[in-house]
Amino acid sequence: MALPRTTSNMLRLAARPTTTPSLLPRTSPSFTTTTRRTLSTAPRLYDDSKNDPYHKQSTAATGTSAGPHEGSSSRTDNQISFEYPDDGNLGVREAQVQGRGGVHLKRTLATFSLEGRTAVITGGARGLGLVMGQALVNSGADLAIVDMNKEEAEHQTQAMIEQFKKENPKSEEYDRAKFDLGKKEGVFRIPKITAHYSDVSDPDSVNSCFQEILSSHGKVDHLVTSAGFTENFSAETYPYDRIKKLWGVNVDGTYLFCTALANHLLSTKRPGSMVMIGSMSGSIVNVPQPQAPYNAAKAAIRHLAASLAVEWAHAGIRVNCISPGYMLTALTRKILDENPDLAKKWTSLIPQGKMGRPEDLMGAVTYLLSDASGYVTGADLRVDGGYTCT
Ligand SMILES: NC(=O)c1ccc[n+]([C@@H]2O[C@H](COP(=O)([O-])OP(=O)(O)OC[C@H]3O[C@@H](n4cnc5c(N)ncnc54)[C@H](O)[C@@H]3O)[C@@H](O)[C@H]2O)c1
Repeated sequence: MALPRTTSNMLRLAARPTTTPSLLPRTSPSFTTTTRRTLSTAPRLYDDSKNDPYHKQSTAATGTSAGPHEGSSSRTDNQISFEYPDDGNLGVREAQVQGRGGVHLKRTLATFSLEGRTAVITGGARGLGLVMGQALVNSGADLAIVDMNKEEAEHQTQAMIEQFKKENPKSEEYDRAKFDLGKKEGVFRIPKITAHYSDVSDPDSVNSCFQEILSSHGKVDHLVTSAGFTENFSAETYPYDRIKKLWGVNVDGTYLFCTALANHLLSTKRPGSMVMIGSMSGSIVNVPQPQAPYNAAKAAIRHLAASLAVEWAHAGIRVNCISPGYMLTALTRKILDENPDLAKKWTSLIPQGKMGRPEDLMGAVTYLLSDASGYVTGADLRVDGGYTCT
């Protein structure tokens, strides 16, 4: 049964040891996550002469029992449970990423620029979506932030505009008729940034939201689908209604927004590009927290990107996927600050030895949306500190 959805419950459960002590023989050494990771990823050949109780051949192979250690290296802890709040509101507000001038103060390839483009980001009010949205604005794009938490989306829209003005003191208000890009040195147009409500899992809500964006911006060129969430329940106890909700937001929501943009681009005969936010969980199985439906959803995202990339290639529409590893958002930072044990477990599995920052996605998303990646479609770009290499 799911526990009440409090952070403290999650923390308490997440802090439980990953190996149930009663499964271990009394004389067994204490196992650390690092030790078990090494054993499972680089299995040593069985050597009976060493009489090592932890490396017996399997029962199936030898016809004999491998001893009481069997099952002791199980790596998923079914006691870890976390339920995402239905309104998505975690009571956390994030600050804008501080920059040093938003628009091309440093020389770089012009193909990375998104100037003149309009981008939509779902789940853009918070977390990874919020920071990726800033990356697009800093790269020259106008932006429509879509979220079911519209109040937060509106707050962040204003904060983003203020941040842009602070970093570009000579910037001028948006006026398409009057503004002549490049005429005045160092003067930049203040980007148009708007906030929109949508529950991405609801087709009617997606369609009316997309129409609202079109009437406000006139056109859309790019999309990033970051609305999504994870939950932790053991597979055999996972409430079915929560599985449907999780797949609805992560998979249906991605599909619905991508097809809304594709229909717009196809009907206006214009090229465009999209980036779906998957996860390394679409390629590996995380431990110790159980999350089978989330992992399956993220695998679906990865293959959806490849499938739509092939289907829409003829129209100049590119579709790619970014698969982040463990990223430090406001939520995960809060959890791990209070629970250093879990932080150690996760980071011990990451070759770079640290979790990612949301800012680590800024370059990846800009690259995949921009013309710099013109011949890249159907790709999965893993931004995970090397997690999936091991
Ligand atoms: N944070 C990580 O470590 C991590 C790692 C890999 C992948 N991801 C993926 O990145 C994406 C963003 O994650 P995050 O950590 O920023 O999460 P987050 O919870 O901080 O932000 C998600 C945003 O999506 C919005 N949202 C949720 N359900 C929605 C719905 N039905 N309709 C519209 N908006 C909705 C929320 O209001 C919130 O603003 C997710 O798809 C997640 O699975 C995150």
